[in-house]
Amino acid sequence: MSTLPNQMSVNLDSCMAELRQQFPAAAVMTGDDIPQRNMQDTSYLPAVRPLAVVRPDSPEGIAEAMRICAAHGVAVVPQGGLTGLAGGGHPVERAVMISLERFSGIEELDADAATMTVRAGTPLEVIQRAADEAGFFIALDLGARGSCQIGGNLSTNAGGNRVIRYGMAKEMVLGLEYVLPDGTLVTGLNKMLKNNAGYDLKQLLLGSEGTLGVITRAVLRLHPRPGCTHAALCGVESYKDVVKLLGAARRGLGPMLSAFEVMWPDYWHAATVTVKGIRAPIEGAHGFYVLVEMQGLDEAVDGHRFMAWIEQAFEDGIIADAAVSQSMADVASFWRTRDAAAEFGTVLGPHCAFDIGLPVRSMDAFADACRARLAAEIPNSLSVYYGHIGDGNLHIVALSVGAAVQPGTEISDIVYATVREFGGTISAEHGIGLLKKPYLHYTRTRQELALMRRLKRALDPGNLLNPGKVVDLVESETR
Ligand code: LAC
Ligand code: ZN
Repeated sequence: MSTLPNQMSVNLDSCMAELRQQFPAAAVMTGDDIPQRNMQDTSYLPAVRPLAVVRPDSPEGIAEAMRICAAHGVAVVPQGGLTGLAGGGHPVERAVMISLERFSGIEELDADAATMTVRAGTPLEVIQRAADEAGFFIALDLGARGSCQIGGNLSTNAGGNRVIRYGMAKEMVLGLEYVLPDGTLVTGLNKMLKNNAGYDLKQLLLGSEGTLGVITRAVLRLHPRPGCTHAALCGVESYKDVVKLLGAARRGLGPMLSAFEVMWPDYWHAATVTVKGIRAPIEGAHGFYVLVEMQGLDEAVDGHRFMAWIEQAFEDGIIADAAVSQSMADVASFWRTRDAAAEFGTVLGPHCAFDIGLPVRSMDAFADACRARLAAEIPNSLSVYYGHIGDGNLHIVALSVGAAVQPGTEISDIVYATVREFGGTISAEHGIGLLKKPYLHYTRTRQELALMRRLKRALDPGNLLNPGKVVDLVESETR
């Protein structure tokens, strides 16, 4: 039998009075002063005006805001770049949003340790550029790079484009600082690659979507800047050949294989015809379009290796056509076909976005089954399939074309029921937030869910930090 979270009295007015006393006026926004952009993330959930948006500019300030809210029983939602697709950063009514936007910037780049210490509000692209300028490479990359913030990337354990080589966001974190729901500031800015001194506490925060603490700073692991980058955009006729190409890329390019992205024809049409201004690097119609990228050490040796590998794949009949990059501009133009997904909100309108995980072998059968079920049950259904197939991560964008209100629940029910049948995960990289919470039990066992609740209660007994996200504290009777 589950117990309800501790009841405590809520005092919004005295909370606001204390916040106003402790922070400068510009750091506390309420009522009509709250900008529209702070009321919504990228999940298409209806806008919510929170009680206030507080924007501290130091870890101590973030801890202070959290402590004040906790003392008055007021809920807090941490807010980064608001690019999340699952609703983890979506505002909650009568809650205080702690925005990280004024705590931004790079504090240190340590070339000997190959680390960078960053503030949670720093946009990912700023971090990527700073690493590049210093001769390093930050492995995390995703479509929202210009507007997402590293704190949000880490709290959701973001995946992105180069997981096949470098792993998920949590793999890039050596040290972490965060504020607990009671306002305690925990600083563990470790720079060492190996540190087995007790529990690896940062792992609790990474991927917890701001429900166990607010990330304030992080020590990121840097890699050397690649000596050369090559890519090919391949036309492949069957899914069997896509899987063969992945195996050939793993064997032929070894650890230099840095991305393996697959786009189904429905995606390709949306990206190169519906989205304007993106040139298809190869002509003709193919069963699948595969973007393979390699990061090497030495142009002379590795450029040659990449060409030889592609020629072999041709000779073996695995690929039907390919454009091979001759420059970094070509690599960038190949990626534009994949980054076009970021435009779907504009050209297709409101839609449901999925980031499911499946065994690589089952992807195409899943796509066929899912497309057919959506077509049978959703009026004017359009669904497109693409993703980080080398990581076992498939994206789906699905909608009822022309519907004034999207049948989001119906679409999700169909997609996740199919995921369950195929033995996949409901979230490979975007997280659970609000949108996927009803389906979490498709992917996690009862015991796993109970342990998640136990952790949440231990760290946040008042259920004040990002309440209602990821996992419900009270077990549903129906499950
Ligand atoms: C992508 C984001 C949506 O891969 O995860 O395009
Ligand atoms: Zn993705």
